[in-house]
Amino acid sequence: MKVLVVGGGGREHALCWALAASPLLGKLWCAPGNAGIAEVAECVAIPAEDITTLVAFATANGVDLVVAGPEAPLTLGLADACAGAGLRCFGPSAAAAQLEGSKTFTKQVADAAKAPTAAWARFTEAAAARDYVRAQGAPIVVKADGLAAGKGVVVAATVAEAEAALAEIMEDRVHGAAGASVVIEECLLGQEVSFFALCDGETALPLGAAQDHKRVGDGDTGPNTGGMGAYSPPPVFTAALQDQVMAEIIRPCLAEMAARGTPFRGVLFAGLMLTETGPKLIEFNVRFGDPECQALMVRLKSDLLPALLAACDGTLHSLTLAWEKLHSLVVVMAANGYPGSYVKGSEIRGLEQAAQIPGVQVFHAGTARREDGALVATGGRVLGITATGTTLREARDAAYAAVAAIDWPGGFCRQDIAHRAL
Ligand code: AMP
Ligand code: GLY
Repeated sequence: MKVLVVGGGGREHALCWALAASPLLGKLWCAPGNAGIAEVAECVAIPAEDITTLVAFATANGVDLVVAGPEAPLTLGLADACAGAGLRCFGPSAAAAQLEGSKTFTKQVADAAKAPTAAWARFTEAAAARDYVRAQGAPIVVKADGLAAGKGVVVAATVAEAEAALAEIMEDRVHGAAGASVVIEECLLGQEVSFFALCDGETALPLGAAQDHKRVGDGDTGPNTGGMGAYSPPPVFTAALQDQVMAEIIRPCLAEMAARGTPFRGVLFAGLMLTETGPKLIEFNVRFGDPECQALMVRLKSDLLPALLAACDGTLHSLTLAWEKLHSLVVVMAANGYPGSYVKGSEIRGLEQAAQIPGVQVFHAGTARREDGALVATGGRVLGITATGTTLREARDAAYAAVAAIDWPGGFCRQDIAHRAL
């Protein structure tokens, strides 16, 4: 099989790493990839959002499966363009990708499916939104309706904070057109879990869960990021909770999407809040989480490739997946300054030593090779130091031993990944 993975982050490195181990794989490309991905796939210099060139490349090279890593190509219609060219694509159509592209759409689907979520209202006028916030009181959550690179959500502890968020999103348009409308939600309290299900339009197969660390600083302080670390499985997410989430959220929403004529194929990522009154849906994403994907891939015992194919071909009902009885943990190393502005081009050493620690896999998120062969940082999140262990503590100790082996003065990481579980 010839496979093209689209994207160039840690998630895509983990997907390429898992696919490269498949006995079914003949050739693996990644567009655009990164320096770590280049060790397991041939990187092609096509941006992940350049749908036309990606489809032309896949057609010219006889690609059997296109795997979308990030959401952007999906919301831009990568899966639709692949279908039009007779190519298989793992990932939803642009219509189904609205589950991530529009918060309002997701709330409407969840309500129609009677899936438990936070109470909500949508506004296109700042004045009406302000009135609603004042009437509801705090804490309250304000969200830009469209895609805002994961930064369009403000969990406001006070009414004043919520009003300031409305002004920034709706009047100053700090997230551009994504702020033309806002969704205001009841604030849910509890532990947050990222849950993943493979979907083929009709059948959903649980892939399990992970917990992410969104804030940049230890003790969950500082600004939000794309995710500074993850671990899997989360001890709080019991088998009974997983069954409940499949029955109350995933299957009803999948059925609602099919009933609307926009069946969901790919991986459905449910951001859940485990509240006192049960698990509630915070949001859907239409892709694997990053770094959650890294935590899942090192635990997957089964071949990933047939699972992705089954999601494309509508045959998930006859698939079972096996998982290693291991815990996994990812420590993200980011460039100094992230998630604010950061310096690019700082040199990273010591990855070979880190990779020799038993159970450790170093996934690259934002790296490149300089002309002299040195590894340099090119992104905000740069490395995902991933480890497995028979206990979560063992996985954590191995991951931090690998972090200590890495010589990168230009980077930092959180020191407390999995603190809730440990
Ligand atoms: P989202 O982009 O929708 O994932 O939101 C980003 C983060 O904001 C989530 O991961 C939660 O931590 C938080 N959040 C979003 N919606 C709510 C809510 N209704 N109640 C509490 N926290 C929320
Ligand atoms: N780590 C959260 C995300 O991928 O959205």
